[in-house]
Amino acid sequence: MITFKIKRYNPEKQAEPYFEEFQLDVQDDLTLLDCMNEIKWTLDGSLTYRMSCRSAICGSCAVKANGHAILACQRQVRHLVKDDDTIVLEPLGNMKPIKDLAVDFKPFWEKIDKVKPYLQPKQKAPEKERIQSPEQFKFIDDSSTCIMCGACYSDCDVLEVDDNFLGPAALAKAQRFVQDSRDEKTLERVKELSKPGGIWDCTHCAECVERCPKPARPFDRIKEIMTVALEQGVTNNNGARHALSFAKSVKSSGRLNENIIPVESVGFFNFKGLFDLLPVGLRMFFKGKNPPILHKSIDEVEDVKRIYRELNE
Ligand code: SF4
Ligand code: SF4
Ligand code: FES
Repeated sequence: MITFKIKRYNPEKQAEPYFEEFQLDVQDDLTLLDCMNEIKWTLDGSLTYRMSCRSAICGSCAVKANGHAILACQRQVRHLVKDDDTIVLEPLGNMKPIKDLAVDFKPFWEKIDKVKPYLQPKQKAPEKERIQSPEQFKFIDDSSTCIMCGACYSDCDVLEVDDNFLGPAALAKAQRFVQDSRDEKTLERVKELSKPGGIWDCTHCAECVERCPKPARPFDRIKEIMTVALEQGVTNNNGARHALSFAKSVKSSGRLNENIIPVESVGFFNFKGLFDLLPVGLRMFFKGKNPPILHKSIDEVEDVKRIYRELNE
């Protein structure tokens, strides 16, 4: 017997959401979606959520189970149930609930639109299709598997504090076209994606990789766009400068030079940016938290340099 604690919300009846409990005698092999259907069909027909394919294909059944976004049709309840025989179900995060477990995907789709999710070739369309080799397709194979379920978007911690961030799904979709051999707008795309709200605002927490039910793995795709942006010379922004300064510091001393990295990240001649750093620097100084002025290398620095050399080769 499992207790499902489900977050209910119906703005037409009650302003605030609340939890309601449903108990179900659950067979071992049932998926979470099977149980949600059972609750809807036998206990409360007003329970609202999205579903369609029941095969982890359409992406519509994503919900939060015990605090993490998952596809309800892809997970058996026996792998979700907590020690006290409960499962807590809530709507996806970072989107406004409409009713019960259904959320408003509008901001999600607007961000997908922003990355221009279509091919932009220079040449006119050939009579037959534009062909790719298997090697060329490998670059976009993983991102092509995205089913737009929103699980990554729901649990991205940057989106919790910054609505402007494009988010993992849109950035994975962007990589799909940045690295498509048939697309001719690579430079324009990475310039756009390097602006505030783009790739460099990701905090590298990798939560989206944990949540993604497919091989799309958004954070891996974000790293690929970062690499293309650096290769294309799109480095005149804080994020790219920070990455380059970080790598340079580790390469030369085996550790981060926290005196130099902030300055190199905002740019030596960005006087306003440098001025903005001043209060943080002074606070650190007066609290005794500032790093040593003289930056020492670690003892094994030659090993670090060797790793860089081998990577470059
Ligand atoms: S790795 Fe980046 S995009 Fe993915 S969840 Fe973390 S902050 Fe969001
Ligand atoms: S990247 Fe993964 S988690 Fe995000 S929308 Fe696509 S399939 Fe879902
Ligand atoms: S119902 Fe289609 S992905 Fe779950």
